[in-house]
Amino acid sequence: MTRPQLAEFMRRMEPGSVAIIPAAREVTRSHDTEYRFRQDSDFYYLTGFREPDALAVVAPGREKPFTLFVRPRDREKEIWNGRRAGVEGAKEAYGADEAFPVEEFEAKLTELLDGARHLYYRLGNGHAELDQTLIRQLARMRTMGRKGVRPPQAVIDPGVLIHEMRLIKSADEIKLMRRSADIAAEAHREAMASARPGMREYELDALIEYVFRRNGSAAPAYNSIVGSGANATILHYVDNDAELKDGDLLLIDAGAEYEGFASDITRTFPVSGRFTDAQRDIYQLVLDCQEECIRMIRPGVTLDEMHQRSVEILTEGMVRLGLLKGEVPKLVEEEQYKKFYMHRLGHYLGMDVHDAGAYHLDGQPRPVEPGIVMTVEPGLYIAEDAEAIPDQYRGIGVRIEDDVLVTAEGFEVLTDKAPKQVEEIEALMAR
Ligand code: GLY
Ligand code: MN
Ligand code: MN
Repeated sequence: MTRPQLAEFMRRMEPGSVAIIPAAREVTRSHDTEYRFRQDSDFYYLTGFREPDALAVVAPGREKPFTLFVRPRDREKEIWNGRRAGVEGAKEAYGADEAFPVEEFEAKLTELLDGARHLYYRLGNGHAELDQTLIRQLARMRTMGRKGVRPPQAVIDPGVLIHEMRLIKSADEIKLMRRSADIAAEAHREAMASARPGMREYELDALIEYVFRRNGSAAPAYNSIVGSGANATILHYVDNDAELKDGDLLLIDAGAEYEGFASDITRTFPVSGRFTDAQRDIYQLVLDCQEECIRMIRPGVTLDEMHQRSVEILTEGMVRLGLLKGEVPKLVEEEQYKKFYMHRLGHYLGMDVHDAGAYHLDGQPRPVEPGIVMTVEPGLYIAEDAEAIPDQYRGIGVRIEDDVLVTAEGFEVLTDKAPKQVEEIEALMAR
């Protein structure tokens, strides 16, 4: 049976064309050991195949439209490095109409490409050797005209087609994203319940990963950020090695990857279990902003409109708290808020944490539609040495991030099992 994603991709391709989609390669971590393997998102989306060093060749309209090139079965190698589906498995378990050992790919290229109208292949996407192989192959085929060989006339990026498909999540994919969100929410609750002064940030980093793995998540979807005190004002802080101090806030940005789908949650809470007045001022402002922006979500709204609203709300609040001085419209126009709010409100979420899909169509911000999942993650980051601000706000960093599904009627927050109201957090931590 052809996987629905692959069938849809074939429908969207130009008739008579061929696509070549490579799997991810293994990446060396040091000497002769590798990083834990992570399949390429596009390849996995189309094929469901989890092994490295494979290639999918897709040729709609041909008698055998789906060919997989895979690592062949090998008793010796499988004893050392694990099982392989092999050529037979590629056909039986993954629906390939034809399968070959990956070593035979180059020899079969002329046959595969001959007469194809276009070649769908993403040049410059981290497969330098394959890029060269294909360029050489096209040149070779151009010299074979007298034999009747006809090379493809254009090389097209298949990413555009695949990423549009990936942007709109199916019911099955939404189920996986809900599970991914539930797992991450559970990890955030456990981190809140366990945090106390004297711990190191990495203890919570490890606890979070344990909760992920315990629930069948393969890995964190990105390196977890566990930043206490002023570390929370460093946007991509991943050292995670400082000691948690009484009186500090702790910002945790951590999401799970479950069956290929990411969640992406940020919570910020006090190490001691109770917010100080200054911390609550900032926190409540960010929370009010986040909740208002989430309520804007319905088909037709753009991420740009939402971002713009977040800028207004945060700027108004910062004037009220004395972090900025002046008229709100002017401060917005001059982008003064960027001193404390320097990133965008959110991004698409899916197989990649910053997921595929166009943010603009025909040069205009794109309206969202049902099936899109996005994050909503405003934050304020007040450096310890920020100039001309009230002292009590120095070194405070707050971000609150949820994952939200656009529905026909409006929205659904997938990550609502992670507490974010001040009273909820204080109650959870008091237990
Ligand atoms: N964790 C990455 C992000 O929030 O965009
Ligand atoms: Mn995010
Ligand atoms: Mn995040």
